Amino acid sequence: MCSLSFATNRLLLSLFCYRPRVKRCGEVRSVLSVFFRIQAGASLLAVRPRDRPRWLLACYERWRPALGTRLCRHLGALRAIHQKGVNLTDVAVEDGQEFAQMGSSLADAWQVRSSCESGRVVALQCSACGQRPAPGGRVVGGMDAAPGRWPWQVSVRHGSRHRCGGSVLAPRWIVTAAHCVHSYRRRSASGWMVHAGITHGSAKQEAGVPVERVISHPLYNDNSLDYDIALMKLQVPLNFSDAISALCLLPSHQDLLPGTPCWVSGWGYTRPDQAQLTETLKEALVPLIGTQRCNSSCMYAGELTARMLCAGYPQGKIDACQGDSGGPLVCQDELAWRLVGIVSWGRGCAEPNRPGVYTNVAQLLPWIYRVTEIH
Ligand code: ARG
Repeated sequence: MCSLSFATNRLLLSLFCYRPRVKRCGEVRSVLSVFFRIQAGASLLAVRPRDRPRWLLACYERWRPALGTRLCRHLGALRAIHQKGVNLTDVAVEDGQEFAQMGSSLADAWQVRSSCESGRVVALQCSACGQRPAPGGRVVGGMDAAPGRWPWQVSVRHGSRHRCGGSVLAPRWIVTAAHCVHSYRRRSASGWMVHAGITHGSAKQEAGVPVERVISHPLYNDNSLDYDIALMKLQVPLNFSDAISALCLLPSHQDLLPGTPCWVSGWGYTRPDQAQLTETLKEALVPLIGTQRCNSSCMYAGELTARMLCAGYPQGKIDACQGDSGGPLVCQDELAWRLVGIVSWGRGCAEPNRPGVYTNVAQLLPWIYRVTEIH
């Protein structure tokens, strides 16, 4: 499996394509133009124009830090950790290796060169995310989660009580639902604690990490639950380990098809009629349901906004429930586990034609990037 960090000996760290946006009659179209990858070891950035068979190393001339940030976000990482120009004399370059000099934009017009004018190539490291150690919820109809399966899952507590789930995005950043923190908005952030790396013990007293600030989306609507997302900045960073790690986000413009198998996890109620949190973290497989279908008269009849998505089963029986809110809905692709949704609401739990409704994280990426960058 690939990782987005330096610490791997795999050859291919990451491979993705950059899709420039072409506006046509008001719609956004994606056109595939250049592939990028970060090579293991020295983390050199390589480029492959669509019409060429070979990977070219990216020359450092014309490079700007903002480009590294953009590329890392296209990979689904929160940010670029390191980027620099590396002297060609300091890296092992294969015979016949060619190079690419950036054109007018990241997406196209890269020019093929036999060497780089600056004598340097780009090395780029993105923040690590989306990997879990072991191979491989209020979740109704779910199963116990083995330790290490959802290392990004946290319990968000006020006082010592579990209020909601949440997900790790970076050592100091947790994402949860705005409705979890709304009624506490006038209280100090330090009343909140985040407990990471646990599978057992929603009620137990493990040491948690105190929260420094809570930032809800400014457009959060407590009636419609539109924009149901909040970020928590921790007072001290989490120690990443096999038990604690960050999720990736979606690359921009990645379309997820209805039926995509995704997972929800949490300590919420396991029976809609019993108001009790579980001791053990639960997980459940919940396929995505297309918004058109979920918003149709037999399901939520127009209640969903563009910031919401549905996952679950038309027949019910398996779903998130009270206490799971704020927790992750994750889907895996060839590269990583990615945060696709945040447990938000539902009519009852696990009822037929009332699937779980999740915050549509893909719609809120610019806000996540902005908040985590400025705070
Ligand atoms: N609002 C609930 C909470 O605060 C989560 C509800 C999810 N409901 C569902 N049917 N999926 O925990």
